[in-house]
Amino acid sequence: MKVIDLFCGLGGWVQSFPAAWDITGYDIMDFSGRYPGKFIKADLLEYRDFGHADLVVASPPCTDFSKASFPPTWKSVQRYPPNIPLAVKLFERAREIIRQSRPQFWIIENVRGSQKYMGRADMHYGSRYLWTNMALNLPQGSDMYGKWLVSPSPDRPAVRAVIPRSLSVAVRDYIEAGI
Ligand SMILES: C[S@@+](CC[C@H](N)C(=O)[O-])C[C@H]1O[C@@H](n2cnc3c(N)ncnc32)[C@H](O)[C@@H]1O
Repeated sequence: MKVIDLFCGLGGWVQSFPAAWDITGYDIMDFSGRYPGKFIKADLLEYRDFGHADLVVASPPCTDFSKASFPPTWKSVQRYPPNIPLAVKLFERAREIIRQSRPQFWIIENVRGSQKYMGRADMHYGSRYLWTNMALNLPQGSDMYGKWLVSPSPDRPAVRAVIPRSLSVAVRDYIEAGI
């Protein structure tokens, strides 16, 4: 199973995937040594060297979409206004790479507010909205609210962004049931 993990961060999507799967993560920040697979540091708006993949998982940045749904009077919104064109471009880039690598399975994760720009998600798990061609069997409830408890550190944004294990397991189980 050849897996491409776009905007991979610390590798939440792949945390439950079998060691035998051939996994490569791509991110503009350096997660080498911490990403649980092969890692390529790249700007995905520039990088073009993708081959065929069986599965593509993607978590394009969501901060600007989230911010666009905050009240415009909020100080953080006024100080750092959301860059929606960039957020849309990154999400569209994930879709383009998926089209080009022709995977059997694919999934893109983002926030509820991104639907206004990217179209309606197929399903959601708590605040994680999912566009996918897999009829996932999502668990009840959500195991992600612990992210609010992450202590302050330079890593905090990356740790808070990590995909919950139960979502990784839902994708793995769906694929393993069909192969
Ligand atoms: C929502 S986080 C990904 C979380 C990840 N799925 C996980 O489970 O840890 C989005 C990631 O996109 C990366 N990113 C932002 N702009 C990028 C770009 N132009 N090219 C590649 N990665 C980018 C950020 O560095 C960040 O790690």
